[in-house]
Amino acid sequence: MDKEGSQLIRGLEGVVAAETRLCDLDGKNGRLAYCGYDIEDLARRATFEEVCHLLWHGELPTAAQLDRTTVALIAAREIPRELVQAFALMPKDTDPMRALQASVAMLGMRDPDGTDNSRAANLRKALRLTSQLATAICAHHRVRQGQSPVPPAPDLSHAANFLSMLSGTRPSAIVTKAFDASLTLYAEHELNASTFTTRTITSTQSDMHSAVAGGVGALKGPLHGGAGEAVMRTLLEIGEVANVDVFSERALAEKRRLMGFGHRVYTAGDPRAAILRGMAEEACRQSGQFKWYEIAVKLHARINAAKKLIPNVDFYSAPLFYSLGIPVDLFTPVIAAGRIAGWTANIIEQHEDNRLIRPRADYTGAGRRAFTPLDKRA
Ligand code: CMC
Repeated sequence: MDKEGSQLIRGLEGVVAAETRLCDLDGKNGRLAYCGYDIEDLARRATFEEVCHLLWHGELPTAAQLDRTTVALIAAREIPRELVQAFALMPKDTDPMRALQASVAMLGMRDPDGTDNSRAANLRKALRLTSQLATAICAHHRVRQGQSPVPPAPDLSHAANFLSMLSGTRPSAIVTKAFDASLTLYAEHELNASTFTTRTITSTQSDMHSAVAGGVGALKGPLHGGAGEAVMRTLLEIGEVANVDVFSERALAEKRRLMGFGHRVYTAGDPRAAILRGMAEEACRQSGQFKWYEIAVKLHARINAAKKLIPNVDFYSAPLFYSLGIPVDLFTPVIAAGRIAGWTANIIEQHEDNRLIRPRADYTGAGRRAFTPLDKRA
């Protein structure tokens, strides 16, 4: 207890800081649902467009509503020319998450709804941001490679269009389904660090683009969304299935933090990881890169046996994304492309029942002391 009777809870572990209708996360039983729908059903049977509608409106869309949402998402895909010009001015080795954060800020400058925080304006902004984020990620990637951006294709779904804008080729139906389901699996996850950041910024009555820019910054860290990239770098470092044992022993002896393992809330396993494992197996096999799946499975077994650590969402998404041809440093932007649906839904929810988020800190610095003028300081 501090002197004002509040208790210090490091990392806010177990603290309930909001009410939500969006995400029902049962960490003890390893279950997850968006607006009441089990994550496995959504990943397997709904499209990312349906999931966006669900998170923004609280209900799965009817066919007519889905049509309207899809048409609106397609219509919003273009990004301002100035943003593409800005990409050309950025250093070629700029971290794509930094470029994404700058993109969100620039999109905010040009958004017709600006700082209007009404529900109607926020729904329009959520839709535009979801479309434009995908275009911005892909355009920045192309420009940093000295290529022209691939224009959005109005006849492709959100997931297929993303992959087409990234590589310049139209993806197969199997690859599109795997990517679409990944976006759904990443779309929402209660008060994770980036979503909490977006809610904290929103709680000051700031606007959606400002909140999302903050969320991108929080997602980037390796303890959060950045873990997926780190997992793939680990798998690449291991290189061959035969090297897993030696790697695991060394990593455990060095007490390395093993990326893609562990979770603050899930104690009985992350349900997203189980779904992604199956998807990774199929995608790695289909793409002729089965060894990355095999390395991941063996590493999972070794680490689990030694430390009882369980894989989280970012573990099997790494070999999955790699086998879908996504560059490793775009794994976190891809997660942002999914999580934007949840960020924007949380921002809308926070605006509708807002109270400033303002916790306290337990002061541990020097006691009160007399001010020393500059010329008297040693
Ligand atoms: N590797 C090695 N040890 C671990 C790991 C790990 N991945 N995760 C937890 N531990 C150990 C940790 O060393 C500590 O041990 P001890 O009590 O002996 O010091 C104990 O477990 C508790 O660790 P903690 O860091 O206090 O636990 P937390 O609830 O803060 O950790 C976590 C949650 C996700 C930060 C952590 O598990 C971790 O660092 N994992 C690796 C990074 C990662 O995969 N992040 C993605 C998280 S899920 C998706 C997302 O959020 O985007």
